[in-house]
Amino acid sequence: MLRIVVCVSGGGTNLQAILDGIDAGKVTNTEVIAVISNNAGAKALQRAEEKGIPGICISPKNYENREAFNRGFTDELCRRKPDLVVLAGFLVKIPDQAVAAFANRIVNIHPSLIPSFCGVGYYGLKVHEKVLERGVKVTGATVHFVNEGMDEGPIIAQKAVAVEDGDTPEILQKRVMEQAEWILLPRAIDDIANGRIGLVEGKVRRLQGNVTGLI
Ligand code: GAR
Repeated sequence: MLRIVVCVSGGGTNLQAILDGIDAGKVTNTEVIAVISNNAGAKALQRAEEKGIPGICISPKNYENREAFNRGFTDELCRRKPDLVVLAGFLVKIPDQAVAAFANRIVNIHPSLIPSFCGVGYYGLKVHEKVLERGVKVTGATVHFVNEGMDEGPIIAQKAVAVEDGDTPEILQKRVMEQAEWILLPRAIDDIANGRIGLVEGKVRRLQGNVTGLI
C-alpha cells in the first residue's frame, strides 16, 4: 500500500480528484495518510476532515524565519513516514532538506506544459493569465517529480488543452483542471503505487518486465 501525504494551499480540487479516484477504485493500492496545508482556512483541510484524514496546518507565518519553517515542515513530513509526497496545488517552495529526504518521492502538478509557463512566479491563476497574455493556442498540465529546481524535475505525464477565443484566466483554469489535472494526477499516483513507472537515466519510463519500480 502506497502511503501518501498530500500538500495543498487552497481549494483542494486536485486532492478531491485523488480521494474520488481512490473511492472509485481507479487509484489502487493507495492510502492518503495526511493532508498538510500552509493555510489554516484552506478548503482542502475541510475535504480531508470530511474523509477522516488528519489535516495539519504548517505555515511560514507561524515560524520565526524561513529556516525554522523549512525544518518544521521537513520534520513533520519525516514523522509521517509517507512513501510518496504529493504537491496538489501547494504554493510554497519545498525545502531542499525535504527534497533530499524524499528524493524521487515527491510529485507535483503544474498547470502548464512544462517547460513553458513555469518556474518562479508561475503558480495558480497567474499561469493562465500569462498563457492568455502570450496568446498561445495550446496549454495543459504536467505531473513531475520534484528536485531542487523550480518545476524542473523529471516529467511523469503531460496533457494538452486547447486555449479558446474569449477565455478568461478562470475559464481556462477550469478547463485545464477538468481536461488534464484531475485525470493526470490520480493516474500518476496509481502508476507509482502499482510500480508501472521508473526513472531511467533521469527520465521517467514505463516499466516492462521485471524492472523494479520507484517505491
Ligand atoms: C492547480 O491548478 C495546480 O495545478 C496549481 O494550483 C492549483 C490548485 O488548485 N499548482 C501550481 O500552480 C503549482 N505551481 P486546487 O487547490 O483546486 O487543486
